[in-house]
Amino acid sequence: MTTITVSAIKADVGGYVGHSDTHPRVREAVESSLTDHADILEGFHVTSAGDDLQLVLTHRQGIDDERIHELAWGAFERGTAVAEDLGLYGAGQDLLSEAFSGNVRGLGPGAAELEFTERPSDPIVVFAMDKTEPGAFNLPMYKVFGDPFNTPGLVIDPSMNEGFSFEIWDIEENRKVFLETPEDAHELLALIGAPSRYVIKRVYPREGNKNDPAEPVASVSTEKLVDVAGEYVGKDDPVAVVRSQSGLPAIGEVLEPFTFPHMVSGWMRGSHVGPMMPVPMEYSQTSRFDGPPRCIAAGFQVTNGNLVGPNDLFDDVAFDRARKQANEQADYLREHGPFEPHRLPLEELEYTTLPEIMDALSEDWQRMDSSEGVPEETTAKPVE
Ligand code: 13P
Ligand code: 13P
Ligand code: MG
Ligand code: MG
Repeated sequence: MTTITVSAIKADVGGYVGHSDTHPRVREAVESSLTDHADILEGFHVTSAGDDLQLVLTHRQGIDDERIHELAWGAFERGTAVAEDLGLYGAGQDLLSEAFSGNVRGLGPGAAELEFTERPSDPIVVFAMDKTEPGAFNLPMYKVFGDPFNTPGLVIDPSMNEGFSFEIWDIEENRKVFLETPEDAHELLALIGAPSRYVIKRVYPREGNKNDPAEPVASVSTEKLVDVAGEYVGKDDPVAVVRSQSGLPAIGEVLEPFTFPHMVSGWMRGSHVGPMMPVPMEYSQTSRFDGPPRCIAAGFQVTNGNLVGPNDLFDDVAFDRARKQANEQADYLREHGPFEPHRLPLEELEYTTLPEIMDALSEDWQRMDSSEGVPEETTAKPVE
């Protein structure tokens, strides 16, 4: 049986207004471009989170396929042309290359792709976040696939009892490592607790699971715009695809981590810490302080390659408390103004406009001698 591939490919091609939302005419242009090239697609759906558009594509070409990526690039280009006509903010923001060259990775857009053998019923969730970075998925993904307090299926479903395997990317050093839960949980947490550097790229079932251990069950986009552009042009608002049920976490287990609005990097100017708020699609526009960071969850059944959906999974009063908590946390953090830890630590601001301010001060610094500053040589007794 041929496999099906779900490709979720995202880009910010212009904000309406500022960095808050997408414009319906841009979305229509993107959809019409996909319709024109639908011959190699089994199904498609266009969704948005804040100022980012996500193309959810199903096809038989496998991951990293040049034609699929070119089709996505072409759709974003068509959207950019409309964004330029409308004078939208940052038109073409995530299209960092003049031309397409083989794969959208490295050119600005983000991609999360899964190739798998379709089951008789195959539920998936496409998550899309705005005003944050790929590592923002670390905490929820760990909870879904590694934490029995979130996912009782790890304890009571024999198929999941062996746990899952996590593919972790070190996005600074361009290297990866595979760690398995439950036995490597502590090492895994040592890495992914630093989400600006270590990110969960994929999750696989382990031997004993009724799903094929060679077929990943979750994938996250990990592209870093700053690595491509060499300067801050926007945060790398990520997208993720998660398969569910029947030997995998149930839909409710996949959504459960979002009842806790965890802290993520991003928000205003990509330079602040803020709570991740789960929202229905109609509330995905970011406003307050260009945020707070938020996440939508689009549920689909993949049926004979088609996408049946989306079901707007955070459109539920069960997430009201998380939204209220996120707003309270936002109030608390905002009171800090430009102070850390609301503002990101200096290392993480390296690629923003802050270094220019620091440079402007460089002539004004005065060296202090030891009579007024901290003595250069310590008088403390050496430790024996
Ligand atoms: P399955 O393992 O059959 O997907 O059922 C689990 C479930 O849905 C419990 O909520
Ligand atoms: P985006 O990354 O969503 O474009 O936002 C950029 C920004 O600077 C918001 O304040
Ligand atoms: Mg933007
Ligand atoms: Mg964005």
